[in-house]
Amino acid sequence: MAKVKTTFFCQNCGSQYAKWQGQCNACKAWNTIVEEVVQKTEKNDWKTSTSTTKKATIPLQIKDIDLTKEPRLNTLDTEFNRVLGGGIVPGSLTLLGGEPGIGKSTLLLQISLKLPYRTLYVSGEESQKQIKMRAERINQNQSNCYILTETKTQNIFKQIETLEPDIVIIDSIQTLHSDYIESSSGSISQIKECTSELIKFAKETATPVLLIGHITKDGHIAGPKILEHMVDTVLQFEGDRNHVFRILRANKNRFGSTNELGIYEMQGSGLREVSNPSEVLISKKDEELSGNAIAATLEGMRPLMIEVQALVSTAVYGTPQRSATGFNAKRLNMLLAVLEKRAGFRLGAKDVFLNITGGITVDDPAIDLAVVAAILSSNEDAAIQKDYCFAAELGLSGEIRPIQRVEQRILEAEKLGFSTIFVSKYNKISLKKLSIKVQLISKIEDLTDFLI
Ligand code: TYD
Ligand code: MG
Repeated sequence: MAKVKTTFFCQNCGSQYAKWQGQCNACKAWNTIVEEVVQKTEKNDWKTSTSTTKKATIPLQIKDIDLTKEPRLNTLDTEFNRVLGGGIVPGSLTLLGGEPGIGKSTLLLQISLKLPYRTLYVSGEESQKQIKMRAERINQNQSNCYILTETKTQNIFKQIETLEPDIVIIDSIQTLHSDYIESSSGSISQIKECTSELIKFAKETATPVLLIGHITKDGHIAGPKILEHMVDTVLQFEGDRNHVFRILRANKNRFGSTNELGIYEMQGSGLREVSNPSEVLISKKDEELSGNAIAATLEGMRPLMIEVQALVSTAVYGTPQRSATGFNAKRLNMLLAVLEKRAGFRLGAKDVFLNITGGITVDDPAIDLAVVAAILSSNEDAAIQKDYCFAAELGLSGEIRPIQRVEQRILEAEKLGFSTIFVSKYNKISLKKLSIKVQLISKIEDLTDFLI
């Protein structure tokens, strides 16, 4: 009998050890090292029945490489195409990560139902009937989509050989299991092995493969870090589960930019593409309320107008509370300190609550000015005109700092009918004939002059 070979893997970062230890040397996590059986029985090839002698490739001059033969597959989903950089590249591996229940399976099922190609949707998580029920909700034409419930990679490849799909979707990589490795599904060595089998299949047949990946509680894709290195594209599906908006972004993309962003709205009948996010994210109100300010932010390459709400009230207890939803709480504290020190506002004994509407998290520094304006407005109980918007970063000495791509933001604000946008004096703006007023300010005091 062959000797059983085992290795110890850190379940957090995927580092390998010869024997057990309490702490991982690489990621410093405790009690994450687990023994896994990595015995291989045979040569691992996605096509075991026919041993293919791989055609050796020859070097080509870059100008001679023909691109026209392999155009990208259009998914008929403009947001998904945009994030991928124009469609799915043949032979590529794309990994879609996201929290449980965020809508990963829904998104990929919806795309496979829409696709004009023969699609194989492999699920290790739901039965065919359950997927059919989901498909009925999404209600797309379902002519070319095949559903397979299987977790063993060898069986999946057998089905692929007979079906010859143009695109394969795996839900999820953590449920897959390869016969060549003894350890259980979802373990580091299984994920590594199944992914490399899929890569081999994808590259040899030029069939694109989309994988769904679970994430750990700190937001990283579960499994070894090497998984992200192995695939061509890593997409992240995020959003607040209690809100309807979902954002799709690329964390890594070998065939396009990682700056693009897709926005969806979760509805009763699947995900709807949101092509005009700014209009959806700003609540339409008739009256002006204090504590509201609109920020002209940029998510990736897309301008996005976002509503910031602040509530400043007298603290009931000795230590005032500061809480922020969708915004970094440390940055909120910093902005409050700047307001206190540079603009003379006594916020030390006040509770401050901040909320970015729509359940979106913003890390664009250009939102600072809108945050400060919302806080000032709530503190003074004076409403900001609802056709004002803000786009600037705030420095520690109270200076209004320039931001990138200011012109794109100004044009978006103009398009949506804002009358005035506040930006830093140090931003260079060469736009002519604008119908929007561009108010240049250099210090936090200038802002208070305008608002209060
Ligand atoms: P799902 O795709 O199962 O999430 P994941 O695969 O990321 O775990 O999405 C589940 C959620 O989506 C569930 O809470 C219900 C919601 N949903 C809708 O609101 N409308 C729909 O049409 C569908 C199919 C799901
Ligand atoms: Mg799922």
